[in-house]
Amino acid sequence: MKNVGFIGWRGMVGSVLMQRMVEERDFDAIRPVFFSTSQLGLAAPSFAGQTNGTLQDAYSLEALKALDIIVTCQGGDYTNEIYPKLRESGWQGYWIDAASSLRMKDDAIIILDPVNQHVIQEGLNSGVKTFVGGNCTVSLMLMSLGGLFANDLVDWVSVATYQAASGGGARHMRELLTQMGQLHSHVASELSDPASAILNIERKVTDLARSGSLPTDNFGVPLAGSLIPWIDKQLDNGQTREEWKGQAETNKILNTGTVIPVDGLCVRVGALRCHSQAFTIKLKKDVSLPSIEAMLAGHNDWVKVVPNDRDITMRELTPAAVTGTLTTPVGRLRKLNMGPEYLSAFTVGDQLLWGAAEPLRRMLRLLA
Ligand code: HSE
Repeated sequence: MKNVGFIGWRGMVGSVLMQRMVEERDFDAIRPVFFSTSQLGLAAPSFAGQTNGTLQDAYSLEALKALDIIVTCQGGDYTNEIYPKLRESGWQGYWIDAASSLRMKDDAIIILDPVNQHVIQEGLNSGVKTFVGGNCTVSLMLMSLGGLFANDLVDWVSVATYQAASGGGARHMRELLTQMGQLHSHVASELSDPASAILNIERKVTDLARSGSLPTDNFGVPLAGSLIPWIDKQLDNGQTREEWKGQAETNKILNTGTVIPVDGLCVRVGALRCHSQAFTIKLKKDVSLPSIEAMLAGHNDWVKVVPNDRDITMRELTPAAVTGTLTTPVGRLRKLNMGPEYLSAFTVGDQLLWGAAEPLRRMLRLLA
């Protein structure tokens, strides 16, 4: 059995990873060692009934070097500090990472096995030891639209995202909910009176949102009742870093040798943990909708084609319906007025499952 170290297992992505590993009995196949950046020496957590000794020091190269596999959800700062030192020390183990720091390195593979199992396997055969989870919108797009890419049908993709608060982190989710609660409390009495004027209620809400008194330490501005058309850093070319990742990571994951243009606008909305995306896809040729639906549905075990029907779409293609599940539905499929090669699609996926923890869990399972 392999010795597997876990760092950042207590955070949001780490907690989802632990939960999935318990559900899939992954702990039966490994000897886990739990690390901490702050609480070394305290009792390690017990998952799946195992007792696991005490928490080890996540900054101890000696302790880390004893491991066959390291799985980290601790974040980019930790990776940037520890990974180079560990590799320089000669450590030859497998590094599985949720953070983006190492994604674009030549000696790292972005893991999404239902889409790029062949790339992962070739990497393993040629001695690659570093495997990194992809950006959540990219992974969720490829889980839902994988059938089009696998059939080499995509000329280019334009996307508008509707990204949940969880993409920012746990504190962002709390901030969104607190903002929602404060906005509601501010007008609760008027709301309970059916005779009150809605525009007066709206004005009170808007005034509060603009007053500067809502908590905004994490998002910078109110998100509740609003949206933020900017995610991550500003690049020199006008893109956000989140938008830049779309093309860069998609093509690295697919590794086809050509570059498929992927670009669009990334927007934060008041959903909790499901990212949604609206796509305009230019196909390389006119393919019938039934054929497209069959390709999409047959690509992997998690994608689900939602018929372009009002009632089913409203029931099944929303963050509220998809959150907490591994299903990556795709719907609103139709040919656009621009011509028979232009396809629309709308996808929804849990940002913490296929968007973060699940590809890591499956990579660990493959190695263990
Ligand atoms: N960058 C993503 C977001 C999160 O902010 O929604 C994870 O890839």
